[in-house]
Amino acid sequence: MKTSPEKDHPISIREEICISCGVCSTVCMFSVIIMNEETGFPVISPHAPPCNRCGHCVAYCPVSALHMQGDEGNTSSLPDRVMITQKDIRDLVLSRRSVRQYQKKKVPREVLENLFDIVRYAPSAMNLQTVSWQVIYETEDVRTIGSTIISWMSRIIDEQRLQEFVIGSSFPYITHEWKKGRDLITHGAPHLLITYARPEGYTAATDAVIATSYLDLIAPVFHLGTCWAGVIRLAAERSPEVLAAMDLPLDTLPQTALLIGYPALRPYTIPYRKPAFVRWKV
Ligand SMILES: Cc1cc2nc3c(=O)[nH]c(=O)nc-3n(C[C@H](O)[C@H](O)[C@H](O)COP(=O)(O)O)c2cc1C
Repeated sequence: MKTSPEKDHPISIREEICISCGVCSTVCMFSVIIMNEETGFPVISPHAPPCNRCGHCVAYCPVSALHMQGDEGNTSSLPDRVMITQKDIRDLVLSRRSVRQYQKKKVPREVLENLFDIVRYAPSAMNLQTVSWQVIYETEDVRTIGSTIISWMSRIIDEQRLQEFVIGSSFPYITHEWKKGRDLITHGAPHLLITYARPEGYTAATDAVIATSYLDLIAPVFHLGTCWAGVIRLAAERSPEVLAAMDLPLDTLPQTALLIGYPALRPYTIPYRKPAFVRWKV
């Protein structure tokens, strides 16, 4: 086996298998892999930036001649064709709804683990894979976060600071309804998922939104419903008490919040959405 010229480089190329098709160098994001014109085999460019381990060279090699150090046993072969129709996808996207009525039934941990195991394949900037999930699994902990948010909102109302928040005008109604037993914060969801990251990870916010969207979209396939909880995310940003109730690792901040559980109701029609607003510069 030929190993790469840079000893800390993760890719190795097996020349005895390689068919010199050049696909690995074509798909390499930063041209880390180039073709050696003399030997006809791929090599690691001496001027290459660090490999970001996206794995495309390995994935696109038709003869498995490339190897990513550390990925042993963690890659799997791909069927010739992924059998999802355009109609399936359209149905999935159009039928997804924000769920605000949940069954009083917990989601087995294995089901959530299955979801995380799929969404970890979501794209991330520079393949940094910065997204981490905090599962608020116990329903009473979800409710504690809700009541901490209500306390925070009540304080904002008392201090007449509603204008500081885009949705501040809804705080009096939300707190009023809470007192009546109607939860407009966590909507009775059994679980809350929070993505978190260290604040200096400047790609983390986007990566978290993508991963959360993936989870949101595939959840119905597992008979689950979700609801983004921007209000929880906002409260965590502005209230140390709410942040503390999330119990995130030290020096990390929440990026997104998603309620999850089994829906108590089903929709019968697809609500109207604006036509796609698209400009074509041709
Ligand atoms: C970033 C974001 C934040 C949201 N925050 C909340 C929230 O705090 N509470 C809530 O009930 N719904 C929240 N939603 C859900 C939206 O209200 C919902 O997506 C929108 O009304 C469209 O309905 P649909 O998701 O069923 O298509 C949020 C959605 C997004 C994308």
